[in-house]
Amino acid sequence: MKLQLILLWLILISSIGLAQELDPLEVRPSLATPRLSIPTNLTTVPVVNPGEYFVPPYVEDIPDDNFGELVKIGRNIFVNTQKYGKRYVGNGLNCTNCHLSEGRKANAAPLWAAYGLYPMYRHKNKEVVTFEERIQDCFKYSLDGIAPMVDSPEMEALVAYAHWLSKGVPVGIALPGRGFTPIKKTRTPSTENGEILYKTQCAICHGKDGLGYKYEDDRPGYMFPPLWGPDSFNRAAGMNKVKTAAQFIKANMPLGKGFTLTDDEALDIGLYMWIQSRPYDPRRSIITNIFMPPPGGCE
Ligand code: HEC
Ligand code: HEC
Repeated sequence: MKLQLILLWLILISSIGLAQELDPLEVRPSLATPRLSIPTNLTTVPVVNPGEYFVPPYVEDIPDDNFGELVKIGRNIFVNTQKYGKRYVGNGLNCTNCHLSEGRKANAAPLWAAYGLYPMYRHKNKEVVTFEERIQDCFKYSLDGIAPMVDSPEMEALVAYAHWLSKGVPVGIALPGRGFTPIKKTRTPSTENGEILYKTQCAICHGKDGLGYKYEDDRPGYMFPPLWGPDSFNRAAGMNKVKTAAQFIKANMPLGKGFTLTDDEALDIGLYMWIQSRPYDPRRSIITNIFMPPPGGCE
């Protein structure tokens, strides 16, 4: 009996010791003060000339090996998330509906311009996020779904696809074409003007009701994706910010006619999209969702 008590005591003491947090700098002092200085001119090697965009490798060049197999799976998930990422998706969208041309198109948040920039501090998360965590957010909000674990087969494949697309991109450098395009407002955005522009420039593809058009065969997903309604991105998505939507629209819409709207027109349409109904912000309670204005309005 006494021996058992002593043993229990020992186990308790040792577990308290283990639970103590280690100071990472104390155990690894060499990381705190690097001995070598890194030549800074390395970071200025150009991968694109002024006025040009980085060109990612071609699909035909995906290597014929195990890595290439994973890249192909990642590409499938990216372009047909409805089929290959089904268990994580809550709406009717695919990644490529917003990250155009399979995540290659400059000014449509191309994967090759993002991959080398993570881990990065994100205001939305109020912490440094990894590339995987950034992808999880698009699943939760843009696809109104649930986040795949960072070591799930889907996540590993998506990361492999982004890694392959980014071959030759320097790490930690913001390349031209990242994200969408900067815009400036010169007046208060107007929903009335947004509605007129929507009806004349967008409704032909996205529908008068904004609910898009499904494929005519039984393929999952939309030929022309919805801009609002139950099958669209949710209120917490980046695209539900008037400004972010306007930046995307300015650079990419109407499809094939990017950079034809003025900044103010893009903001008008962004605001018109924002006032429509769409899935709730999953970070908020039902009450807050019903009674508070959704996030992402005009700043
Ligand atoms: C409804 C549109 C939409 C869909 C669908 C979507 N995204 Fe995004 N994604 C965005 C927007 C908007 C941003 C930029 C967010 C911002 O500026 O706050 C973004 C940003 C990203 C970034 C970071 C880009 C950068 O330059 O830092 C990655 C990576 C990403 N998305 C991956 C994905 C993946 C993978 C999927 C599919 C699982 C997906 N996205 C689906 C809209 C979308
Ligand atoms: C010629 C048809 C066409 C027109 C016109 C058009 N779009 Fe699109 N739009 C598309 C297609 C197709 C996609 C998906 C692209 C893909 O999957 O490659 C898309 C994607 C989008 C997306 C991101 C995906 C989503 O569903 O949220 C937004 C936002 C968008 N369009 C807004 C607009 C706005 C605003 C206009 C008018 C200024 C417009 N579009 C005009 C065809 C069109």
